[in-house]
Amino acid sequence: MKQPNKAVRIHSYGNQEVTSLDLIDIPQPAAGKVVVRVHAAGVNAIDRKIREGVLKDYFPLPFPITLGAELAGTVHAVGAEVDGFFNGMRVFGFMPTLGAFADYVEVDAALLTSTPDGLPDVVAASLPIAALTAWQALFETGQLKAGQTVLIQGAAGGVGSMAVQLAKRAGARVIATASERNLEYVAALGADVVVDYRAAQPFAHLAASVDLVLDLVGGPALDLLWPLLREAGVLVSTAAPELAARTPANRTGLWFQMRPEPQRLAEIAALVLQREIKAEVASLFPLDSVSEAIDYGYSGKGRGKAVVQF
Ligand SMILES: NC(=O)c1ccc[n+]([C@@H]2O[C@H](COP(=O)([O-])OP(=O)(O)OC[C@H]3O[C@@H](n4cnc5c(N)ncnc54)[C@H](OP(=O)(O)O)[C@@H]3O)[C@@H](O)[C@H]2O)c1
Repeated sequence: MKQPNKAVRIHSYGNQEVTSLDLIDIPQPAAGKVVVRVHAAGVNAIDRKIREGVLKDYFPLPFPITLGAELAGTVHAVGAEVDGFFNGMRVFGFMPTLGAFADYVEVDAALLTSTPDGLPDVVAASLPIAALTAWQALFETGQLKAGQTVLIQGAAGGVGSMAVQLAKRAGARVIATASERNLEYVAALGADVVVDYRAAQPFAHLAASVDLVLDLVGGPALDLLWPLLREAGVLVSTAAPELAARTPANRTGLWFQMRPEPQRLAEIAALVLQREIKAEVASLFPLDSVSEAIDYGYSGKGRGKAVVQF
């Protein structure tokens, strides 16, 4: 009997109602690819943005679109010209063109790395986007150094929870913004100063004191952040693709685009295993509740990462 392959797909843009659980064929791996039996897949803001069509001009994908941009599981089949992967091997990684919310997924082998022993799939699946975005935005685009001050806007979310910990571990002074209910959570991650972004004039005491602003929120709130930068300071945004047009003449604003980096991912997974940093998996959802999971981060109830468990 043919095995079912359930996939969470959209056939048009919209809200929760456009997401359907479809039965599709199990893919055969093309050259350079493997098919992964997915055990867990991280939920990200990009799933909602793709579903709603917000990114259709920046990031066009043909319908039907299988959502999900990161996964952990075991190798089910190996394509030609693939070295270093075998059936049953535990792997995890980032899928830049999405497709992770399915039982069986074809993935470019170059995007995957082996899951270390002792790292549960739900934790591995939470890492690729949050950890690589935090690392690359802080230390590569943002060039953060020990002794500098970084302000992380949106610190309670998936990327922010990682960024606070990685910046602190690197010897930076960390100022973190969150809503009131998440202030203690963000402080417990290691932030030196926590700011309730809904307070009146939340940044009044921070003018010209920050070397790097990491903006994980975008929107109108971003405009309040420019005065916080020192003269040579830099603002890096993961959430405002229109940043260049919004950057004041005397300021440096850098739009960030995460890229796959399996080797770095393996290094960050090792830090999690060594308990140097924590992977904050706050919510687990079954596959048939992906729609709710996708909206969870925007429900005002979320923190850390939401992960779908298969
Ligand atoms: N460009 C790239 O390569 C790239 C890569 C990864 C992520 N991203 C983007 O980066 C953003 C963050 O991703 P994520 O996965 O961390 O999202 P997330 O888990 O949904 O977290 C977003 C956080 O923002 C906080 N927030 C909302 N409004 C805020 C405001 N006005 N001021 C401060 N904090 C606010 C929320 O915390 P409270 O509940 O405390 O309000 C929430 O925890 C998303 O827009 C995502 O699409 C881009």
